[in-house]
Amino acid sequence: MSDGSQIEFSEAALAEYRELLTHYPTRRAALLPTLWIAQREFGWLTPEVQEYVARLMELPVAHVSAVVSFYTMFHRKPVGKWHLEVCTNLSCRLRGADRIVDAIRKRLGVEVGETTADGKFTLGTAECLASCGTAPMLQLNHDLFHENLTEESVLKLIDELVGRDD
Ligand code: FES
Repeated sequence: MSDGSQIEFSEAALAEYRELLTHYPTRRAALLPTLWIAQREFGWLTPEVQEYVARLMELPVAHVSAVVSFYTMFHRKPVGKWHLEVCTNLSCRLRGADRIVDAIRKRLGVEVGETTADGKFTLGTAECLASCGTAPMLQLNHDLFHENLTEESVLKLIDELVGRDD
């Protein structure tokens, strides 16, 4: 098994990491934002990337891996350009989250956790994203909320994303 020694942050990411450390009392406390940098840098957190982060931060690999596997925001396999995460907690479920997931599954031909063959879309689910008042909702690329979804509006969103080249 590789020890992640072929993988390294770019100079810019290393500088960001070093700056980040100045805001935390310990290296360990800076693990989550460091993993964010790694995910942005490498796209997803392979075992080799996790080993690299562990070495960089002088932490046990097992600790880094446990954190990566605990948080759904960290990817342990490649994700598509557009990552749709539908909240399936109680409020969203009561207001039709399952129908939203089904509409996306059928439209894209993937199951939850899968990526389309062209690498454009990944379908995931998420725990409550604190937007229960506008349920059902989804988060796009960990960033943008799309709320008060209907089957029609989510299919329209997918059509818009298919047409975007950015
Ligand atoms: S239950 Fe979906 S945002 Fe809270």
